[in-house]
Amino acid sequence: MSEYDAFARYYDLEYRAYTDDSLLYRSLADRAGSPILELACGTGRHLIGLARAGHTITGLDTSEPMLAIAADHLSEESPEVQARVTMVQADMRRFRLDGRFRMAFYAINSFMHLMTALDQARSLRCVHRHLAPGGLLAVDIFNPEMALFDSAGRIFYERTMHDAAGGATVTKMVATAVDRRARTNRLEFHYDEVSSDGRLTRSVAPITQRYLHRAEMERLLARSGFVVEQVYGDFRLQPSTPASPKMIFVATRATATNPALPKETHA
Ligand SMILES: C[S@@+](CC[C@H](N)C(=O)[O-])C[C@H]1O[C@@H](n2cnc3c(N)ncnc32)[C@H](O)[C@@H]1O
Repeated sequence: MSEYDAFARYYDLEYRAYTDDSLLYRSLADRAGSPILELACGTGRHLIGLARAGHTITGLDTSEPMLAIAADHLSEESPEVQARVTMVQADMRRFRLDGRFRMAFYAINSFMHLMTALDQARSLRCVHRHLAPGGLLAVDIFNPEMALFDSAGRIFYERTMHDAAGGATVTKMVATAVDRRARTNRLEFHYDEVSSDGRLTRSVAPITQRYLHRAEMERLLARSGFVVEQVYGDFRLQPSTPASPKMIFVATRATATNPALPKETHA
């Protein structure tokens, strides 16, 4: 069960054509080579994009509705592309897959769905175990210094989307609540869908992210057996600064042995 189950269709409507980060993963994949592992692959935009580019890729996600949409998109691809993609319903905190990957990545804040320090370490430890020595890891999360916005109970208009297939129009509004002590960002997505015959369906979908500061993420990666090569601040690959919108960590799997989990059992 994933928070995304409830709004998988709306997520896909919003992100299926989102390509701001595509070039980054394409160039890292070309450098690392296949096979590739995407943690929290969602509705499969990277799986399909990288498979079209000739890469072999496995995506895992806990959400059945997200994976079902991904499978639907994949079924429209050529047999060659389909053959290069594997999808697995699994939890990024604990998974076991055959083979070793040459690259793994968490796109677009997916790492922030790991809600405790222990879960973050568990997931990185799993990735470490599944990467070939020297394998590449990329993690894209937002910079909390720049991106956190507490709307304190107010709701803001974000965008209007058109579902070409069904003829519906979907208006998305967002409210956010930041808890600086727990380091969480709770987002509430409000969707108003108007069908082609004028019927209104209103729904609310919450998700919670645990945000991290740069030094915290660097420590976590080092303790999990990765060497950070570069931290970018945006998809144009500018170096990360305190004013950058993003923190994109590119690291390599350093040690041959699997690192121990940290002792703490809380966030
Ligand atoms: C922001 S979406 C990212 C989807 C995709 N990577 C993309 O770039 O469009 C986050 C995804 O994380 C998945 N997710 C959340 N917690 C997870 C977990 N513990 N294990 C695997 N997937 C998880 C959700 O189901 C959702 O599909």
